[in-house]
Amino acid sequence: MTRLLISGANRGIGLELVRARLAQGDHVIACARLPEEADALQALKHTASDRLVILPLDVADAPSVFDLGASLGDRPIDVLVNNAGIIGPQAQATLDMDFDGWAHTLAINTLGPLRVTQALLPNLRHGEKPRILIVSSQMGSMASHASDRLAYRSSKAAVNKVAQALATDLKPMGIAVAAIHPGWVRTRMGGQGAPLDPAESAAGISVLIDRLDLSRTGQFLNVDGAPLAW
Ligand SMILES: NC(=O)c1ccc[n+]([C@@H]2O[C@H](COP(=O)([O-])OP(=O)(O)OC[C@H]3O[C@@H](n4cnc5c(N)ncnc54)[C@H](OP(=O)(O)O)[C@@H]3O)[C@@H](O)[C@H]2O)c1
Repeated sequence: MTRLLISGANRGIGLELVRARLAQGDHVIACARLPEEADALQALKHTASDRLVILPLDVADAPSVFDLGASLGDRPIDVLVNNAGIIGPQAQATLDMDFDGWAHTLAINTLGPLRVTQALLPNLRHGEKPRILIVSSQMGSMASHASDRLAYRSSKAAVNKVAQALATDLKPMGIAVAAIHPGWVRTRMGGQGAPLDPAESAAGISVLIDRLDLSRTGQFLNVDGAPLAW
């Protein structure tokens, strides 16, 4: 039995990961900005009420992150999955940038995972074989010269650096960290033309969660486990 906390768990990849881990018998704290409107998550309560807790979390809002930490007290967490993310504003090119939208994208996709990780560090330190996954994107790889979706790409490039730095700093505490690419997935973000359905992506992420340990910390991995270029 593993104890997980997953952000952005009300829909898309996060929701399917909750479903997959509950099916395995795990205990899941599923975070959503608006739990009372998270119908699919609330429905899962009926099947796994004793193993699913739904808590509010806006990863870009410091008081919300603080409140989450406070409500958890010293409850142990084995796996933190920083999954919440947005694609960013309509205008996000070098020559046409919505700067406020870019800042908001960075606040959620880049600052959010570090903010949540810091708040939950005491819980992870009480966990068993503690691990952190940051759901990044291949679109953040510096190996690509593509320039579309610059707000999104830069937020994921930066969160990759956050993941790498966390891996360095948390290794002495016994906490493993990985940045992962979930594949191109049929969610509100990925669109209907994407090849993977959210359950397939969640199944792959679930395997990565189980494989992650200190010997593999500090990697950027595809959903199938293949290493990706930073
Ligand atoms: N889909 C793909 O092809 C793909 C590819 C590469 C990487 N990814 C990454 O995978 C992760 C999940 O994406 P997805 O495809 O499942 O997208 P999605 O269906 O659009 O879901 C995004 C989730 O993030 C939550 N969220 C957004 N802003 C938030 C905030 N400020 N605080 C807390 N939660 C927030 C959303 O909650 P609300 O419902 O409240 O907005 C929702 O639960 C993201 O990090 C994304 O960048 C996706």
